[in-house]
This record gives sequence, C-alpha cells and structure tokens, in this order.
Amino acid sequence: MNYALITGGSRGIGRAIAVKLSQEGYHVLINYASNEAEAQRTLEQCGGQGELMRFDVSNSQETRAALSEWQARHEGEYISVVVNNAGIRRDNVMALMPEDDWHRVLDITLSGFYNVTQPLLPAMQLHKFGRIINMASVSGLKGLPGQTNYSAAKGGIIAATKALAQEVARRNITVNAIAPGFIRTDMTEGLDEATLKKQIPMGRFGTPEEVADTVAFLVSPQTGYITGNVISINGGLYT
Ligand SMILES: NC(=O)c1ccc[n+]([C@@H]2O[C@H](COP(=O)([O-])OP(=O)(O)OC[C@H]3O[C@@H](n4cnc5c(N)ncnc54)[C@H](OP(=O)(O)O)[C@@H]3O)[C@@H](O)[C@H]2O)c1
Repeated sequence: MNYALITGGSRGIGRAIAVKLSQEGYHVLINYASNEAEAQRTLEQCGGQGELMRFDVSNSQETRAALSEWQARHEGEYISVVVNNAGIRRDNVMALMPEDDWHRVLDITLSGFYNVTQPLLPAMQLHKFGRIINMASVSGLKGLPGQTNYSAAKGGIIAATKALAQEVARRNITVNAIAPGFIRTDMTEGLDEATLKKQIPMGRFGTPEEVADTVAFLVSPQTGYITGNVISINGGLYT
C-alpha cells in the first residue's frame, strides 16, 4: 500500500489533492486542524480510501504523537508522500500586525513543515523513495503588501525546499514547492474576485483541481529527476 499524507486535507486545495491522489491509488491520510465534518466529506470523496488524522501541524508534540501512533499501527509500512499544504493567512499591514498573527502564520506554514516532515524522513531514506511537496504561494516569490507574515512564511518554505532537496536527493527523495496565485477556496472567499482577476492574464482564478493535478505529476515515478523546484500555478499573474 502507498500512503500519502496531506496536511490541511479537509478543505480547498488539500481536499482536491486528497481526492486526486486517492484516484491515483494512494491510501490518503487526511490531516486537519478542527473541521471534522469537512474532513469526513473529503474522505467520502476519496471513496473511503484513506483515514482522518486530526492534529495541529504547528504543535510539534501533537504532530509527533499522531505520526508515531500511525506508525505503530502500520508496522513495516511507511508514508512515502507528504504534501505540506496546511496554511492560514492573517493579512495586515506590518505597522498594525499583532504579534500573534505574525507567529501563527509562521508556526503553521514553516514550523508545520518541520514538525511533519522531519519525523517522516528516516523511513523515506531507509526505503530510498519519497516525495515531499510544499505549498508555497506567489506571495513567497514576489512578496505582497499586507502579507509580510505570509510572504515570510512562504518565502521560507521555498528556501527550505531547495535546501532539503539537495540533502536527500541521493536517497531518491524529491522535494518541490508549488506556488499558486489566486485559487478559489475558503481562503480567497472574501477577496474582490472581479477586480483581482483583471490583473491575471488568464482572466480567472484557478481551481483546487488544477493544483492537485500538478501534485499528482510531481509524485509520479516519471518525475523523479525534478527536485528543488518551485512550480507556479497562477494564470500568468507572476512569471
Ligand atoms: N487559495 C489560494 O488562493 C492559495 C494561494 C496560494 C497558496 N495557497 C496555500 O495553499 C494551501 C491551502 O490553501 P486553501 O486555500 O485550500 O486553504 P483553506 O481552504 O483555508 O483550507 C485550509 C486547510 O488547512 C487546514 N489547517 C489550517 N491550520 C491548520 C493547522 N494548524 N494544522 C493542520 N491543518 C490546518 C484547515 O483545516 P480545518 O478545516 O480543520 O480548519 C484546512 O484543511 C495553504 O498553504 C495556502 O497558503 C492558497
């Protein structure tokens, strides 16, 4: 059995990734923070070919405990694919940004990447195969005003992707990042889509399924020579 862990798999992009990877034959481990009902809906859309894993990726103890408990129940098996997708935004201009909003965004995206990926690496190295995909953003490439915290977190995850890719390449483990532009999910719900889409050469927001298709491409055995890359999915918004 091939296992793929998708953090933040209860909604939006993470849900589409879970559904796509289940269609590709993976047993998907759907992580979420609190939204049990939506996580359950994702599992249903995966045809039940998976399981739910509730833990806060920013909490290292909780994350380690959940991953060790899974490993104890699956002796001899390992999680070969991890998609670090959980993320939030807490936008504000820097001058008015509360300290808690700075830390929360970094803790989930950046420390979450460490908390989830570090315990899974030894098994990937032992089995000489792994796929790690990190959800970045155009904000981490370009920097966006009103998102200093989010840009810092997403820029950090891009740098971490490039560093780790070089560390683990010899073990046949690839590490790549995806940088979406505007994708229609709960996260972008409050945005003025009509105005924003005028800035996008393709004239529309992207769909979670379009991001999921790229994840499926990156996890496939045929793309084993692509590592340390950032793939933008943004309709030409930033090139
Ligand atoms: N949508 C966009 O336009 C866009 C653009 C660029 C990058 N991204 C990135 O893509 C990723 C997914 O975004 P989305 O639009 O799909 O977001 P979303 O619809 O708001 O979903 C966020 C997901 O993350 C989970 N989550 C939040 N905090 C968590 C935590 N501490 N531990 C575990 N899970 C947690 C949520 O779980 P619950 O359901 O339990 O709350 C939910 O499943 C994020 O990293 C985001 O930054 C999105």
